[in-house]
Amino acid sequence: MTKAMEILNSLTLEEKASLTSGKDCWRTVDIDGKLASIMMSDGPHGLRKEENGGAVPATCFPSSATIANSWDEDLIYKIGEALGEECLANDVQVILGPGVNIKRSPLCGRNFEYFSEDPLLATKMASGHIRGVQSKGVGACIKHFAANNQETDRFSVNAIIDERTLREIYLSSFEEAVKEAKPWMIMSAYNKLNGDYCSENKYLLTDVLRDDWGYEGVVVSDWGAANEPVDGVKAGLDIRMPGPVPSANAAIVEAVKFGELSMEELNKNVLRIIELVEKGIASKVADYEADMTAHNELAVKAAEESAVLLKNNNNVLPLDKSDKIALIGAFAEQVRYQGGGSSCVNATEVSNLLQALDDKNITYTYAKGFKTEDDLIDDNLVSEAVTAAEKSDIIVMCMGLPFRMESEGFDRWTMSLPINQIELFNKLSELGKPMVVVLFQGSPVEMEWSKNADSILAMYTGGQAVAKACVNLLFGGANPCGKLSETWGLKLENNPTALSFPEKGTASYVEGVYVGYRYYDKKKLDVMYPFGYGLSYTTFEYSDLKISATDISECDTLEVSFKVKNTGDIAGKEIAELYVEPTYPSVSRPVRELKGFKKISLEPGEEKTVTMTLDKRGFAYYDVETHDWQVDTTVYKIHVGASSRNLPLVGSIKVNSSRTNKAFFTTDSRVYELNANPVSKETLNKLLTEDLKLDISALSIDLPLSKLVGFSGGKLSVDMLDRFVSELNERIK
Ligand code: BGC
Repeated sequence: MTKAMEILNSLTLEEKASLTSGKDCWRTVDIDGKLASIMMSDGPHGLRKEENGGAVPATCFPSSATIANSWDEDLIYKIGEALGEECLANDVQVILGPGVNIKRSPLCGRNFEYFSEDPLLATKMASGHIRGVQSKGVGACIKHFAANNQETDRFSVNAIIDERTLREIYLSSFEEAVKEAKPWMIMSAYNKLNGDYCSENKYLLTDVLRDDWGYEGVVVSDWGAANEPVDGVKAGLDIRMPGPVPSANAAIVEAVKFGELSMEELNKNVLRIIELVEKGIASKVADYEADMTAHNELAVKAAEESAVLLKNNNNVLPLDKSDKIALIGAFAEQVRYQGGGSSCVNATEVSNLLQALDDKNITYTYAKGFKTEDDLIDDNLVSEAVTAAEKSDIIVMCMGLPFRMESEGFDRWTMSLPINQIELFNKLSELGKPMVVVLFQGSPVEMEWSKNADSILAMYTGGQAVAKACVNLLFGGANPCGKLSETWGLKLENNPTALSFPEKGTASYVEGVYVGYRYYDKKKLDVMYPFGYGLSYTTFEYSDLKISATDISECDTLEVSFKVKNTGDIAGKEIAELYVEPTYPSVSRPVRELKGFKKISLEPGEEKTVTMTLDKRGFAYYDVETHDWQVDTTVYKIHVGASSRNLPLVGSIKVNSSRTNKAFFTTDSRVYELNANPVSKETLNKLLTEDLKLDISALSIDLPLSKLVGFSGGKLSVDMLDRFVSELNERIK
């Protein structure tokens, strides 16, 4: 018998029930002499352990929105390791993150805490994060499961999402990370999903999570997200946080006594909690010391690798130390490096751009230019900035979203930057000098004003070392290599959710799977900067696409290889992206979807061969009739390149589905479906014309079979049709 089983057997009903809520705000319940307690604290991008009314000092790494721009699973793994080490040093057993909710609208207040609009990129980054944390014997907690895509009304909004959209988009960002990285914990979201609160949602917490994905860890409620205690246990919720909640424990005891909840059901949950606690306790290291200097260095590297160079006309960047620079904008002094709410870290050290430039002996003239506390234009600050700019050769303007605009608890109300920043930009650009814009923000902003900017470097919410990283990038000490993990639309109105986000009460995800680039591509809309886009100080060339086969079965894996060459004269990194496009889908599908990516390092002139593999999921969609992933038999285009809208290489592959859906033919079925079953058009024609002597040449291919009776001129009766359908079904068995 395992130790956890022994502990379970030693517990009274009351003790078991007590384990299902927290001991206090952050700890699990301990049971004298039987089970210890473990501590959870917030992440995701740094440890936020509450102590003495504040939080312990910890390294603030770039937030998830930022690090996702690195597309670098190894880098986020290293950050995960560092987070794990700081947890060990602070006696924390589980760190609450990463958050993998999909960016449905650019306005979601917590977008800075989430990875992407694309589930593959999000789940890969999450997986790296979790594996890194857990390699240190500390648990990660993936959150917020699921469909927590807005902050407005977050405690009660009912997200209405169809099954296919859920599986392909909103659950998919969790799926691979859960299956592959096996987080110790999953946090159930505040909101309802299709009518049931996520914390009491059996479909979510048991049918999908445990039965389908095989998850064996603990489900914890978001803080205050649990409602009906017995329903929660039955649905698969293990721990309600925060605690204690004596009334909930009592309700569970009553339910077992009165047979509403079986002891077996409760035991399953309690056993998972015991196993978690035992794991956490076993990994504790007394007097552990984390190397905070190394973590700060890692934070610098992470911010460098995650910054995205959006524009660089005439190679204005990198700057030269001897340039006469006017540094304008309050963000140079008050760097915006993280967002508000539960993820807000008490950073160990934060430098600003002024200090980072001084440290490198780079001279500049600084003017604040605008306030960040409000949007009002301050004429004095404007004229100071103009005077400083007039005396310079190059203007570097630090713009962005003030801290007050991006936080947990509310959504952004606009995609625009504050007017005081845009007005100042316009004034400065009238001077006709080269203008570099550095952006500090956790999500996309409208950029109509930016026509006169020569270069734009988006630092996002880059963590405590963002200023140092920024200076390195501006002056060529580091070469930008991040790419956008989300589309920057031209304007908010172009977003599929623009007319309804955020909805109160009920949020209907009517745009379906068309989120982010899936929507902009389907609608052929121009965007400001596409998903997957980012420049470098060097250039890359793609060539020589090779696909390992021309015709495969859906069970085969396909190898795709190509070459990438650094054609410039400095070293750089390129993120190569692979997208798959079905040519003849049987259901409405996005034009193309990201199915692979790799970040590669290249010396000047160097060329490397990149290989990626695709399996069934690379081609599949979620089929709501079979409640499973299905592949259409059709030709798929394989696109490879530098962004979702710059894909110079294209090849093709025919994938043959093995789908045999026995219920496929009914009298209501279409005459045939080209893609989804093994009965070919020829076979059907033979059956109809030779065996049944029907002339079907004039019939439309999507005619329901039942209509054949009417079109047969009396040759086909309903009985004959029934026999015909049976025969078809025999043939596809
Ligand atoms: C947030 C979670 C967080 C928890 C504990 C909640 O309000 O939604 O992300 O982990 O608080 O602070």
